[in-house]
Amino acid sequence: MKISICGKGGSGKSTVVTLLAQELSRRGWRVLVVDSDESNSGLHRLLGFEQPPRPLLELVGGKKNVQRELRTKFGSGEDRSGLSVLARPEVRVADLPAEHFAERDRTRLVTVGKIHQALEGCACPMGVLAREFLKKLRTADDEIVVVDMEAGIEHFGRGIETSIDAVIVVVEASFESLELAGKVRQLASDASASFIGAIVNKVDSQELASRLARELQAREIAVVGTIYHHEEIAAAGLAGEAPSSEAAQQEAAAIVDALLARGSTGR
Ligand SMILES: Nc1ncnc2c1ncn2[C@@H]1O[C@H](COP(=O)(O)OP(=O)(O)OP(=O)(O)O)[C@@H](O)[C@H]1O
Ligand SMILES: [Mg+2]
Repeated sequence: MKISICGKGGSGKSTVVTLLAQELSRRGWRVLVVDSDESNSGLHRLLGFEQPPRPLLELVGGKKNVQRELRTKFGSGEDRSGLSVLARPEVRVADLPAEHFAERDRTRLVTVGKIHQALEGCACPMGVLAREFLKKLRTADDEIVVVDMEAGIEHFGRGIETSIDAVIVVVEASFESLELAGKVRQLASDASASFIGAIVNKVDSQELASRLARELQAREIAVVGTIYHHEEIAAAGLAGEAPSSEAAQQEAAAIVDALLARGSTGR
């Protein structure tokens, strides 16, 4: 089961990924978090890891190599974008060199790559790598993959959703966030990925949550659950620390219940 969490910049994707990972792990699931956001580098801290794992991009020879492979692929018309380790038809995280994943308890983190320098070029190679990795990634029956997507909808254009089972969009209280959710619903259906619905995040009243639910309903988007604005989460976010809020964890638990009740997780 591979779930992707997407949404507008700053809507709370990484926070939601972390809360879901914490809750799934608590219930005995193994969780593989895939950091597919090339801009932000704080996810490992939210998940409680001191250091990020080495990016997959380094494993496959860096961005230039991916770009070269892409050119060869497009030049020859053959799909040769299966890069080094990823050239195998199937990939398991345990097959990766240890420095390329972080692991604690039942949670593992893999990161695709980050933009570090000015004029480094576009992020397409990382999109290709994320797509190939997720396509070839094989998971155990008691394992759930949660992907932290880059902000916006470009990942759909890069085909990352082709092997995602369930797309969830995080929505905060803004018109842009709602509009983006509508686009995500459409693009997920175009990509033949099952669109689960929205997680409403950072709202500070039930009235606002209900209003957002109505707005989403008008866009034919179901609400999977709501995570209210919690001061502890905001403070942890500012400090670059793991979110720790009992109320938020209960809200995340209700969301996990809803996801598991869909019966698509195989357990
Ligand atoms: N439910 C919440 N209550 C309070 N603060 C929150 C909540 N969810 C997220 N935040 C805060 O909002 C900010 C943005 O959250 P987060 O980094 O998870 O968003 P994001 O969508 O991953 O952002 P980006 O697009 O930059 O990757 C952070 O400071 C985080 O701590
Ligand atoms: Mg983020």
